[in-house]
Amino acid sequence: MKPSRWLAAGLVAVATAAALNVVPATAGRPYDPTTQSLRDLAKRHGLYVGTAVDMAALDNAAEPRYRELAGSEFSTVTAENVMKWESLEPTRGTYNWGPADELVAFARQHQQRVRGHVLVWHNQLPTWLTEGVADGSIDTAELRKILRDHITAVVRHFKGQIWQWDVVNEAVSDPWDTPSTLHYKGFWAQHLGPGYVADAFRWARAADPKALLFYNDYNIEAFGSGNPADDKTQFVYEMARDLRARGVPIDGVGSQGHLGTQYGNYDTLQVVAALRKFAGLGLATAFTEVDVRSQMTAGVQAGDSAEINPRLQASAANFSTLLRACLAERHCLSFTLWGFTDKHSWVPGAFSDPPEGLATVYDENYRPKRSYQELKADLIYSGPPFVLPRVPQQPRR
Ligand code: XIL
Repeated sequence: MKPSRWLAAGLVAVATAAALNVVPATAGRPYDPTTQSLRDLAKRHGLYVGTAVDMAALDNAAEPRYRELAGSEFSTVTAENVMKWESLEPTRGTYNWGPADELVAFARQHQQRVRGHVLVWHNQLPTWLTEGVADGSIDTAELRKILRDHITAVVRHFKGQIWQWDVVNEAVSDPWDTPSTLHYKGFWAQHLGPGYVADAFRWARAADPKALLFYNDYNIEAFGSGNPADDKTQFVYEMARDLRARGVPIDGVGSQGHLGTQYGNYDTLQVVAALRKFAGLGLATAFTEVDVRSQMTAGVQAGDSAEINPRLQASAANFSTLLRACLAERHCLSFTLWGFTDKHSWVPGAFSDPPEGLATVYDENYRPKRSYQELKADLIYSGPPFVLPRVPQQPRR
């Protein structure tokens, strides 16, 4: 064939592939989705896949795999710790932007979006703040101004570089707290009253009108009784509904997605139903901190496969449940893992009695686990081009 004919044939092939919504083979090799990264597979759905990033691990030259995978597998990143108040403002009025700026630069280099975490939370506050309130040297009026100044300074500093901000984190109690009737809990509610939630969103919006503003919490993956007194998802739903009704600038609800294989957990339909209800308020949703931990029994620690295998499988199933629900609800914008390797997971440090672990999608040696493969399979087989009409079967003669 003449070169022009080759060109014409090539164009026809590309056009045919486009019409059929299939991905053409590249460089003579057939397209093999299993070799693609999570971020590339998610891109076909318009979904961002993310991870929390531990800056010490990212900067450890002796462990290049961490940096490689953080950059190649994910299209959004969250600071695991370095955007928290104790990190950003360890001394009153003196900001330490370095590590957070470094993460934002890493994200830019790797064409990743950044989830800002976190503006208002009762944990990881600097001692100058908590002690000042405890000893009475910071009164209520001053505390409110301190919060406003902090939100304004932080959101302004990162203005234009943050896709989604976790404005308020974990403001709602759990059924096991006292009193057991769900309520606004923690440092900020105690000292400022629940009105701080709306204030925080307004202050954040004023400082960066383009960032999406999220409320973020755990144990809100699915609805329970429907009674806000004991159903945390319902409590958060009604809070979000009321904020919207009052014109407070909240754009989304983040469901952390910290699950454990020892619990009952949810099926995909329950999770989709919850995402839909939030979407019905005009809100985006996201999974923001997904991991699925397991109890590290003596058998697990001794390497007993009869104890390890069911945990790895249950973990994979739970990751998959959350991702499939997210894929099914078009307002679910991102799916972020709270760390991607068991080598750097907050779980063993946070859950030690009884010890828990195995919570992420790569093992301690950076080998992908079953959960990683299931996430990949969900991204490959959900939606076009893999929505395949059934082939009718005829009785054989
Ligand atoms: C955790 C970090 O992973 C740990 O390194 C740190 O010691 C404590 O905080 N919910 C959140 C996250 O919103 O900020 C928490 O991160 C995990 C629970």
